[in-house]
Order: sequence, then structure tokens, then C-alpha cells
Amino acid sequence: MYRILKREELVPNIHLLKLESSHIPLKASPGQFIIVRADEKGERIPLTLADWDADEGSLTTIFMTVGTSTQKLALLNSGDTIPTLVGPLGLPSQSENFGTVLLVGGCYGIASIFPLAQQLKKKGNRVIIIIEARSKNLIYWEERLKEVSERLVVVTRDGSYGYSGHVPDNLKKILEEEKVSRVVVNGCTFLMMITSETTRPVNIKTIVNLNPIMIDGTGMCGVCRVQVNGNTKFACVDGPEFDGHQVDWNVLLARRHTYIQEEINSLSFWECEKYG
Ligand code: FES
Repeated sequence: MYRILKREELVPNIHLLKLESSHIPLKASPGQFIIVRADEKGERIPLTLADWDADEGSLTTIFMTVGTSTQKLALLNSGDTIPTLVGPLGLPSQSENFGTVLLVGGCYGIASIFPLAQQLKKKGNRVIIIIEARSKNLIYWEERLKEVSERLVVVTRDGSYGYSGHVPDNLKKILEEEKVSRVVVNGCTFLMMITSETTRPVNIKTIVNLNPIMIDGTGMCGVCRVQVNGNTKFACVDGPEFDGHQVDWNVLLARRHTYIQEEINSLSFWECEKYG
């Protein structure tokens, strides 16, 4: 069993989960993920690493409550235990001196770009960060991200804070002002897709951290398969990072929605059982 050191709702529906682990922080790198289960009957949830501390023996991830499994996870507290914690999984992010790197984060991706920004800055890159949320009350870790970037741009879709609109509306302007060599996007599939489509015409390498449904996380079940440059890849072992200009977004979106009705049924059933 694996002990929870902290579980905190940072902003509505977005939770921080800090777990005790002596071995994962020793091997973890930016871009990698873990798989957890909230209980013995729970599904396996892949979560991107947002931070870790080998001296303390801890790792931190951020998740959004979307279905039964993440709702169960959100009810756990420090001192509770979970039965499954596997990681670090996936290939680390490529990290070298690219020049100027622009990181884009939305939702849980606001947190998972943090360790990458830290590492890219150490390698001598100029790091620019754009974080996006629907509204001001969904922005978190702003101060933390300022510390690991040269420029931080906040975008809210309702215009309640920072720049107004979607990432692409503001990204175009930033790309005119800055000589960006590489873009990395973490967040929901839609954000990764529209950002990739914005950088495609100006031919800036754009890396996305894909988030398909996963089971084992070790390349055996085939559930996480994605189409990249016309080839079948497994996000858990060949990724999760891929070139966003080569990802078949239609296939990815369709596969992510395969079990949507089952997910709705499961959540309704669980809520009825729990809250009556
Ligand atoms: Fe099973 Fe990737 S999660 S092959």
C-alpha cells in the first residue's frame, strides 16, 4: 500500500496528490507519468508527474475530477493509502539547449510543465510559459511557474484575468514577438490539438504529451495506441510525448470517447450508491 502525504483541491475540480515513494523520485524525469488506483476495484489512472523530492521520498501529481475513479481519488486524504502506484513510466522529455522554448499548460498540464521548465532553464534555454484556464479562479501555481520562466503569460477564456481568449489567439502574437525554437504542450487533447494546428503553418516543432486511456502502462495491453505519422504507437512506451504535427487527432479524440457512456453510467451509479 502507498501512503498519501497530501491531497488538496487547488482550484475547483483540480487536486494535488502527494504520495510517499522512495524509489520513483530517484528515477523520475519531466514528461513521465505514474499509474495509480484509488482502491482495489478501481481503474488504473495515468497521471503526469508534476514534482518529486528524492530526499523527502515523495512525488506530486495534479489531477482533474472527471469520472468515478478521479472522484474516489479526490475523497482520499493524508494518511490514507492506495493499493497501486507504478512509475516512472514513459519516455522522458527531450531536454537540451534548444534556444527559446515555449511551454503551454492547461488544466493539470499547468502543473506538469513545471519540472520541464525547471530542467530546460537549467540547460540554458529561455523559457516562456503560457497557462490557460476558463476563468481566473482556475489558475494555480502562477508564482511557482514565474520562478522557472523568463516570461509567463496567463490566458483566460472569459477574459477575467490576463489575456482573453484561447491559447492560439495569443500564441500567434507571442510567436511574432519571440524567436521560438520549440513548443511543448501539456493539457487536454483539444488544447494540444489547437496549439499544434497554430504552430504548423509557421513550422515550429511542437511536442504534445498525449493522454489516451491506459491500462498496464507497459506496452502490453494496446489500449493506449495512437496514430503518429501514419504508424501505430503506444503512448505508454513510445511516448507519451510525440510531434503534435504528426498525431492523428481524429483517431485520438474518437478513442478517448469510446467508453464515454460507460463512464457516465459508472459515475451515476457510484453517486447514487454513495450519496443516495
Ligand atoms: Fe497498455 Fe499502453 S497502456 S499498451
